[in-house]
Amino acid sequence: MNQEIVVSGIRSTGNLHLGNYFGAMKNYVKMQDEYPCYFFVADYHSLTTHPEPAALKQNVYKVLAENIACGLDPEKVTLYVQSDIPEIPELYLILNMLAYKGELEKTASFKDKARSQPDNVNAGLLTYPTLMSADIMIHKGQYVPVGKDQEQHLEMARNFAQRFNHRYGETFPEPEAFNFGTQLVKIPSLDGNGKMSKSENENATIYLCDTDEQIIKKIKKAKSDQGPLTEFSEMPDYIVNLFDLMQLVSAKETVEHFKSTFNHCTIRYGDMKMQLAEDMIKFISPIREKTISIKEDTALIQKIMKAGKEKARESASKTLAEARKKIGIHFYC
Ligand code: TRP
Repeated sequence: MNQEIVVSGIRSTGNLHLGNYFGAMKNYVKMQDEYPCYFFVADYHSLTTHPEPAALKQNVYKVLAENIACGLDPEKVTLYVQSDIPEIPELYLILNMLAYKGELEKTASFKDKARSQPDNVNAGLLTYPTLMSADIMIHKGQYVPVGKDQEQHLEMARNFAQRFNHRYGETFPEPEAFNFGTQLVKIPSLDGNGKMSKSENENATIYLCDTDEQIIKKIKKAKSDQGPLTEFSEMPDYIVNLFDLMQLVSAKETVEHFKSTFNHCTIRYGDMKMQLAEDMIKFISPIREKTISIKEDTALIQKIMKAGKEKARESASKTLAEARKKIGIHFYC
């Protein structure tokens, strides 16, 4: 077991999709055997967009269930809900004193949100990076398995850690992005435009909760054409995408078979899509069913949440006590 602490937050909104599975989840599952890991559902962060209370609760259960169904083992990692750890908002408050308005306003994610929801540019949105930094620093996290879109937030976390250390003495490591294994898998969307994504192009994204019928429908609709007219011609992007997806879930021979029919102009995309849908269903349906059975077992979910909360608070309260003491907020000892 390595010593470095791994921390990552999972957004509590939106459905997990194939891209999340091959991008993040597989990484998490591998890390849990090699590092002390703290993984949590970032429910406070979701409040920036004012979700419906009933939906928030269901989403938290769902995200936990999905993550466990994908292979996260609550016995190995500390799996908890952000709002169960009061030490996080306390450290967040402290870090806000080290975060400057100017740098927060310059953050790309803030500017995007301010543009996309101009009627709700709240302070939580502005200080999103400080809350995220508190999430990480509360466990003295060093490695943060997140995608490129979070790099700027991590850079800010490093700045806050540095400023704290400089002012109050060495306390926090500087967190950095972490990807297990270097190869990044590309999970293309089904319409030939970019990657699968949580918020965009729902019909071109395969979610871990999709029914068999939805999977078939989406794959059938994926962009294709009449097939190549000359042998060994160059594959159009959207066909490469279908092969990329097939590579993830189908047997090697199946992929080879369809490649060879492509090269010899005998490919029938209808058949290829049917095969892809069948293999996709074989891959997704066990995860979906497991998610449903965990999610319905409220007692089990709550037990897992409570155990995670205890473990997380043990680490969080230690860090917070140290930070408070260094700042001078310790009056009774
Ligand atoms: N901002 C992250 C995202 O949008 C979620 C997140 C919140 C997070 N707190 C974190 C990720 C702490 C890593 C560490 O995906």
